[in-house]
Amino acid sequence: MQMTHQTPRVCLDSRSAGELDADLIIVPAFERDAFADVPGLAQASGGEVTAAQARGAFSGKPFESLAIGTHGVGWRTPRVLLIGAGAAAACTADVLRRVAITGSLAARQQRLRRVAVLLRPGTSVQAEEAAQAVAEGVTIANYDGASMKTSDPSALWLDEAFVAGLGESGPLATAVERGVVLGEATNQARALANEPGNRLTPRIFAERGATLAAAAGLNVEILDETRIADLRMGLLLGVAQGSSEPPRLLVLRHEPANAVSNIILGLIGKGITFDTGGISIKPADNMDKMKDDMSGGAAVIAAMAAIARLKLPVHCLGVVPMTENMPGGRAVKPGDVLTSAEGKTVEILNTDAEGRLVLGDALWYARKLGATHLVDLATLTGAVVVALGKTTSGLFGRPQSWVDAVLEATRRAGDRSWPMPIFDDYKEQFKSEIADFSNTGGRPGGSITGALFVKEFAGELPWVHLDIAGTAWAEEAKPYQPKGATGVGVRTLVQLAMAAPAWAESAP
Ligand code: BES
Ligand code: MN
Ligand code: ZN
Repeated sequence: MQMTHQTPRVCLDSRSAGELDADLIIVPAFERDAFADVPGLAQASGGEVTAAQARGAFSGKPFESLAIGTHGVGWRTPRVLLIGAGAAAACTADVLRRVAITGSLAARQQRLRRVAVLLRPGTSVQAEEAAQAVAEGVTIANYDGASMKTSDPSALWLDEAFVAGLGESGPLATAVERGVVLGEATNQARALANEPGNRLTPRIFAERGATLAAAAGLNVEILDETRIADLRMGLLLGVAQGSSEPPRLLVLRHEPANAVSNIILGLIGKGITFDTGGISIKPADNMDKMKDDMSGGAAVIAAMAAIARLKLPVHCLGVVPMTENMPGGRAVKPGDVLTSAEGKTVEILNTDAEGRLVLGDALWYARKLGATHLVDLATLTGAVVVALGKTTSGLFGRPQSWVDAVLEATRRAGDRSWPMPIFDDYKEQFKSEIADFSNTGGRPGGSITGALFVKEFAGELPWVHLDIAGTAWAEEAKPYQPKGATGVGVRTLVQLAMAAPAWAESAP
């Protein structure tokens, strides 16, 4: 198979626009932009920028683009690509990341390998934040959904990217390096999530996750079906029993010697390598998309690797339960009762509500291993897509201080999320006549009852659940986001670990 991504060399460049030595300069363009800070730009290509603005062809609307040549102004780089960035005052790091992605994807399409991204004054984005976002963007753009077409030409990768317009300093260089690590981790998660179910079985997922994690310096453990049975993880085993592929539980540990406090951040990701629905089988239409039902797990693995690479001074624990959900002859049936590792009994009313089951045992295990704060990431419910659409993840949890900390991390990471309620009385929707509770609460508030089920396994710990069923997969291509796996959640989790000194004080 062809390579899915390649990390470009990214560095700061303090030269002026005319001196930058690249194949293409990407310039964020704001509404009513006169480009006064970029001497020569308005004159380039015989005044085409101003002319295009005047005839209404280019207004700086987010992510529209205008390509011009720099002849006549004597620049070293022959081409400029203006990318709309909206109003300068409203420009965020998120917009800059997307500008960098849009421009870099266009560069690759034009088979150009060396880009410069010129950052400009007039926004309220801090220099370090901007540098990181651009480094993330150019790296994230160096990704191709794993083509298995034997006839496809090999991809053209960006070799080099320059972050210009900010000057050069130690902290800025660190921000660029951090951005590259975060971009690379995003790509690693996308590559795993795009992988077809037959090529990423639970066993292979565990191995690939272990390889990636070990290379980053994490402590790695793969629990096989025997160990999982020894731990009496009846929920994980119950989901797995319909498949001829055995389950796995991947456990990753980041244990730095210089940890700031005694918190242990527990990250748990749903790792269903394919979700047929089981005996409560899904309709045929779009079932192929259920190969991405391990996106949460992939995000946890990639984020843990980035946390290790960045040597963040906080203990982190990653737990990813991995299995297929298949309707085999031994599959769990509606009406069956399973016992979780913690001892709680669950009546299975719909075998397609399998994510909450595997998360239940995994959350318990993270607590058993000493986690003090929990975040789980899961493509859990179709209902969250109905509620929030395809661009916003649902965020559930308690206490408020922990919800706020994770919400802020999603905002800074550009992984938009929105708080959802977890009122206790929704639990009535999944009470069972014969077990502690059932595994489905029906259609009303489906993402809330799903979250409340998971909460049953969080003990008393601060816990947040991110339902990424809508955000993990892009159905339509955008200028800044090709179709397919998005890598949602990766940067959020790393950002959360980076912010640990702040929230360790406020979140109990
Ligand atoms: N993996 C699905 C959720 C999903 C749906 C993800 C659409 C991405 C897009 C999950 O396992 C599932 O099937 N959930 C059920 C729960 C229901 C049976 C209570 C759902 O949402 O229908
Ligand atoms: Mn399902
Ligand atoms: Zn699922």
